[in-house]
Amino acid sequence: MARVFSGIQPSGDLHIGNYLGALRRFAREDPDSDAVFCIVDLHAITVPQDPASLRARTVEMANLYLASGLDPERVTLFVQSHVPAHTELAWLMECTASFGELSRMTQFKEKSDHRDFVSAGLFTYPALMAADILLYDTERVPVGDDQRQHLELARDVAQRFNSRYGETFIVPEAVLPTAAARVMDLQEPTNKMSKSTESPQGTVGMLDEPLVIEKKFKRAVTDNDSEVSYDVAAKPGVSNLLSILAAATDRSIDEVASGYTQYGPLKSDTAAAVIELLRPVQARYAELSADPDATQAILARGAENAREVSTPVLERAREAVGLLPRP
Ligand code: TYM
Repeated sequence: MARVFSGIQPSGDLHIGNYLGALRRFAREDPDSDAVFCIVDLHAITVPQDPASLRARTVEMANLYLASGLDPERVTLFVQSHVPAHTELAWLMECTASFGELSRMTQFKEKSDHRDFVSAGLFTYPALMAADILLYDTERVPVGDDQRQHLELARDVAQRFNSRYGETFIVPEAVLPTAAARVMDLQEPTNKMSKSTESPQGTVGMLDEPLVIEKKFKRAVTDNDSEVSYDVAAKPGVSNLLSILAAATDRSIDEVASGYTQYGPLKSDTAAAVIELLRPVQARYAELSADPDATQAILARGAENAREVSTPVLERAREAVGLLPRP
């Protein structure tokens, strides 16, 4: 069974980019794969988090994973900090990745820009991400386009470790979506939609109410032209709407684009499609939130499974490096 692994940070409200680029795809994974999904709370604290919100978001995140259709009987769902092997292997990864490689990460450059305080953790973050993936002998990592560079680094680090110390890790592959790999902000369609709250009107939350979703799409930035066509460079706003509508309705962009001559109907149909897409997820989310003990039990079982799978991999890596077995 192919091992699949992916993670999401509980660092803000999840949006339709996270749903289309990640969560919905997790739920659609081949039932024959052995899937492990993680709420990466240790990644979230690379930037300051309010402790109470972090706790609440971690549970919210678990419910969103489940509401998106993950079956906890079939997949492993757990919280990163419940499995200490992640931080332990991260150290070995930090000693395998180079300073230069980490300095070239575009997400680090974007996230550290304009900040008074940049944590060392924000810089070494991709080494922790490599540890997350390699700990589970992962073959496939479903992610959105923005994680492509981090995945390349995880592959490079795995290969370097294997060539220094002998075959230890499986070299993982990133799996990118065919549609909506990079959902853009509705107000600033040259920026990706993001969990940070800098553009609330441009970000469609997974838990936004239908009326709010409708309003955000109605106000989406398009252009002065009036032709509906897919051209990301010349028409970023319209292209983003087409790609959201195509992904939400499981159609190709060409098929969707040929149905419109005006922006108004494109916006209202995209809003309607997103509302329908999220309706069952929001309903399941409300049920799950009403039973926090059930979620806790799922996370406890998930952590136990994750520890079982990751312990021998960590031991293999420790031994390869030359660390003495633990007495
Ligand atoms: P994060 O939490 O920022 O995002 C979670 C997932 O959502 C995807 N995504 C998007 N997809 C399409 N359009 C968008 N606008 C958009 N924004 C986000 C991301 O690509 C991701 O798949 N470093 C990771 C978390 C992580 C991880 C891992 C992922 C930590 N360890 C191991 C995979 C494997 C992150 O910050 O994702």
